[in-house]
Parts: sequence; structure tokens; C-alpha cells
Amino acid sequence: MSFKRYTVTSALPYANGPVHIGHLAGVYVPADIYVRYLRLRGADVLFVGGSDEHGVPITIKARQEGVTPQDVVDKYHALIRDSFARFGISFDVYSRTSSRIHHQTASEIFRTLYDKGLFLEKSSDQYFDPEVGQFLADRYITGTCPHCGNENAYGDQCEKCGTSLNATDLIQPRSTLSGATPVMKPTRHWYLPLDRYEPFLKEWILEGHKEWKTNVYGQCKSWLDNGLQPRAVTRDLDWGIPVPVEGAQGKVLYVWFDAPIGYISNTRELLPDTWEQYWKDPETRLVHFIGKDNIVFHCIIFPAILKMEGSYILPDNVPANEFLNLEGEKISTSRNWAVWLHEYLDDFPGKEDVLRYVLTANAPETKDNDYTWKDFQARNNNELVAIYGNFVNRAMVLTHKFFDGKLPSCGTLLPEDIAVLDELPGIRSRVEQALETFRFREALREAMNMARLGNKYLADTEPWKKFGSDPERVATILNISLQIAANMALLSEPFLPFTARKLSEMLRLGECSWEAIGSRDLLPYGHQLGTPELLFEKITDEQIDVQLQRLESIRAENVRNTFKAEPARPDVSYEDFSQMDMRVGTILKAEKVPKTSKLMRLLVDTGMDQRTIVSGISGFFTPEELVGRQVMVLVNLAPRIIKGIESRGMVLLASDAGGKLVLLSPEVPVKNGSVIS
Ligand code: 2FM
Ligand code: ZN
Repeated sequence: MSFKRYTVTSALPYANGPVHIGHLAGVYVPADIYVRYLRLRGADVLFVGGSDEHGVPITIKARQEGVTPQDVVDKYHALIRDSFARFGISFDVYSRTSSRIHHQTASEIFRTLYDKGLFLEKSSDQYFDPEVGQFLADRYITGTCPHCGNENAYGDQCEKCGTSLNATDLIQPRSTLSGATPVMKPTRHWYLPLDRYEPFLKEWILEGHKEWKTNVYGQCKSWLDNGLQPRAVTRDLDWGIPVPVEGAQGKVLYVWFDAPIGYISNTRELLPDTWEQYWKDPETRLVHFIGKDNIVFHCIIFPAILKMEGSYILPDNVPANEFLNLEGEKISTSRNWAVWLHEYLDDFPGKEDVLRYVLTANAPETKDNDYTWKDFQARNNNELVAIYGNFVNRAMVLTHKFFDGKLPSCGTLLPEDIAVLDELPGIRSRVEQALETFRFREALREAMNMARLGNKYLADTEPWKKFGSDPERVATILNISLQIAANMALLSEPFLPFTARKLSEMLRLGECSWEAIGSRDLLPYGHQLGTPELLFEKITDEQIDVQLQRLESIRAENVRNTFKAEPARPDVSYEDFSQMDMRVGTILKAEKVPKTSKLMRLLVDTGMDQRTIVSGISGFFTPEELVGRQVMVLVNLAPRIIKGIESRGMVLLASDAGGKLVLLSPEVPVKNGSVIS
């Protein structure tokens, strides 16, 4: 807590679809907890959010839907912004990268780097659609996958076999814009000289920020150890921020150049006169909340840009989270495998805090975690209802029953009372420590310990049994219980803001500072309480079944889509078929092709010769598993150069529904060279 002010950013989600629980768990709930805590501590804090509205996926979505990219981002920006607001994500500003001020800010920063002569300008050959007259982003090119033969692989990835590709790997490439065969054409782009900043980044991160989370530090180290390359920060595209340089028509800034600058633009939009304090004063602490796929951009590329610009501060911490899975499977927007926030809000009205609670309790802080509806139900019913809600409700109802809803006086304390009250300040400081080091699960667990403490105290002291015999003792117990409840209202605010407010109102708790947490007299003697209301309610099996059935039908739909047998290709004559020379061969050697993720270089004995075949099977087999295996080989496939290696022939494989590859081998060993017919 030794900074003059805080600038806290949360990743700008792409405005090409709604946001889901993975976004909330990974980025927005932890960021919101952190800023709410800082505000309660009286810090000067600015919480910046917004939508990321550039990039190729948005243009593709627009084409698919027959609308403009602006229509796409307008629709999703509003939906995303509203979902966050409904979950109580307390941004000071939530704007968008299509705003004028953002275009201006990103252009200015690009121009500063350009004027300082920092960019490398390079020409390279890229695919161009001669009919439309446009360069093609990798996603705008389809063709045959060199590894599995899928005729509809994209220029960046084959979705059938999962191989990541370069557009130039595709066989018979086609432009998705016109169907034309693209041609290679030189194009000029601007590159960030990241290699020149490697020594600085190494020093700054590896020496200066050893305190970063191990997942973040580790990823940075591996990038830096592998050596940084210059990176293009412009693209040939018609959606984005025009490159602010003469002669750059048809070129825009790369989305990852402008998106993080969006944090600055949004600050400028909110605070036109004072924004610089939040970005340029070394006494400001800059913290980026992001998911793990954004680490390189926030820890290496954006800081390098800021450093090159020269007048900005760099992030002090980047507490990135891992991913949240859903019922054992990776969340996927395209496969509709997600719990969408706007749908949750409709299905579970008034239960924003339940989801905030479950996602924090189970946050993917150090490893990927799984969200299940059963866990959601259990945490709600066994923790929020049975502990938190139950404790508060019993204390309230008993006070109304025995003392007309007025805070009874605290009499002589017994050791069991003192023990409980003595616990309170320690809980606060443990929550603080955990929050300040971005350990939100632990912070929530500690905060819940206060409810556990209160609930156990009531269960142990049983005031409901004692009013007839010892009303003074009951008064003391209820006084203490309600003081604990008031502490809970303050302590819960960062985590469960809706509940904290409801509880404060029920207790009619006035303004209290965070520092008051731990106090045993937050409520004065005779204080009139409000009417008891349930803070949480049980979630039924039926409610959970509805969600599980919904997922089941999506799963079934996805399986149907994957299993859809390929339509048979047109008939071929026997003569044509007999042109194919397929033989049994044995793999003699196998080694991964360096700098590729999927390619394996095989040496195969075909009975006629020993030849090299490059095959995209590296993700499915280790070299050891392949050596010695008999396989089927198409031996008269015309030779092709793949990654500079001449590949002669093709090893035949079957690919199952999930894109997994399986070798085809004879049932019993046969001589190499045996003909397959
Ligand atoms: O991964 C994403 O969803 C990106 N739109 C995040 C951008 S974060 C920041 F740079 F704006
Ligand atoms: Zn493929």
C-alpha cells in the first residue's frame, strides 16, 4: 500500500462474441476484487476496461453475418459492457477501441516510434487476391492441409488435424473472398525491433520482477531465452487504425499494437486533463489483469512499445491467470461450450455474487481449473447458504425474537467470547496480505473464515436454548454475533458486493472504513436493525439439471458435427485408382522437424528403397513409438518440398472424430514393399 495511485487494467475482450465465465474467472472478478479493496483502503485507483474492436476475427464474423464490422462491434460491445455492469465489475471507464480518441492515441504512439526511426521496414511476399485486389490474412485463405488432406484447412490452422500452418503450406490455396487462387506479392510492413530490446527486457523482468507469479515469470523467461525476433505491427487489412504514414494506404495497425494502447486512450477519454498522472508518474502502480494467452503481449511487447516511446511507466505486476474449463472441456466460443454471462444472469437472477464466489473460490490462479455445475451448487448450498447466510439469519431472527430487533447489550465476556473476538483482526490482516499478493482464492477463504467463526460460535453457545434461564447471556452472544455480521459486511465488499450491501442495509450499518474491520463495536447498544432477509437460497437439483441438459445437447450437437462423415468424393475409374501405388513399409527413423509443432521426418523402408517422408504426426506419436512400425505408404505421390525437406510419398493415416491420427498397419507383419490393392 505504498503507492501514490494505481492504474489497474483488465484485458479488453474482443467484441465478436459475448463474454463467458472463463473471462470472469480469469480476469474481471480478480481485477474487480483488487480495485474494490484498494478503494476501501482509500487509494487513488483507476480501473480501466473496454472492448477490443479490431482484428481479423471481427471482419470474418461480419462477412459470415452479412453485416459490417462496425455492426458486429456495436452489438457485442453493448452486450459485453452490460454483462459486466450487471455483475458489478466496477470499471471507472469502459470504452472501445473504435473510438476517435483511441485512433488518435494509437496513431500518435506509432508516429512517435516512427519519427524516432525505431521501426524496421521490410518487404515480404504475401498472398494477394488478384480478383478482389487485396492482401489476404491467413484466415482468409483455405486449401488442402499438407498433413491430413483436409481440403478446407485455413491458412493459419487445419481444424481437422489441429496442425498450425502458414498460409504458404496449403496445397491449392484459395481466397475465401472470391475463390480465386491467390498470388504471391511483395508487401511492405513496419516491425518492432524486439531483438534490440531483449537485454533491457531481460534485466527488467528476469532480474527486476522475480516476484511475478511463477506462471507469468516462467512464460516470459522462456520467450526471452528463445530470443526475440522483430515483429510486424502493421497489416494489409481494411478494418483497424490506418497506418499514419505516407504511402501506407490499405494498411492498418496490427490489433495487438493498438489494443493495449486502448487502456491509455480510455483513461484519456475519462480524464482528459489528468490522464498522464495515471500513465507517466513513476509513483503510479500499473497492474494488468489478463489471461495466460495474453502474457507475451503485456509483459514483453507492450512494455517494449512504452519503453521505446519513452515517457510512460511500465507495469509493476501482471497477475495473469490460467484457463477455466467447463465440465472437463476447454471453453470454446465456436463450439458454444461456455456459460455465457448474459444467459447466467437471466437463468439465475439476483445470484451475481454466487457466481463471483464460485469463480473466485475455484479461480485458475496457478493451473487450469474446472468449473462444474455440481460444484457451483455445492458451494452455494454448503458454504453460502449453510454457513454465511445461516449465521446472519439466525443472529438477526433471534435478535428480533428476543430483543425486538434492537442490539442487545454486551455483558461479561466469557473465554469463548474473547477467543472469537480476538480472531477478527487477524482475519482482516490475512485477507489484506493475500489480496496484495494477488492470491484471491486464499483471500476469499480467509474472509469466509469469519462467517465460519460466527456460525460455529452460535452453534456452540446455543442462545436459543438460554433465553428463559439467562437472558443477559443471550444478549451478549447476540451482540457479539451481530458485531461479527457487521464485520462480514465490510470484509465481503470486494468479493460479494451485492451481498455486502444487502447485509449492511439489513444491519443498518452506517459508513465504516475498511480499517474498522476487527472491531468489536461496529454497532452501538440499542441500535435498531432492519428486517431479516435471506441472503442466499438453495439451488435445487432441477436448476442444475437444466444447465447440465443444455450442455449435454451442445455436446451432442458438437459430436454430430465432428462425426459428420465426409461426403463421398466423385467416382473414380478403376484405371485411375490403379495409378496409386500403395505399399507396406517400415519406419526406420523418426525425428521432429525443428521449429514446427506437428511435422515429423521419417525414414521409411519401402522394400524398393529407403526414403524420406515428412508427415504431420508429431503431436500424436513420439519418435520412439514410430520406429519399427509397419505402415501403409503411397509411394508414387509426386515429391514435395516441406519446410525445405524433400518428402517422397505419404504415410496413410485414419483420423478419428476428434482429429486424432491413427496409423494404418497390416494385421500381421508382411515383407516391406508388399503391394496394397
Ligand atoms: O485476447 C483477447 O481477448 C484480446 N482482445 C485481449 C486484448 S488485451 C489488451 F491488450 F487490450
Ligand atoms: Zn490437417
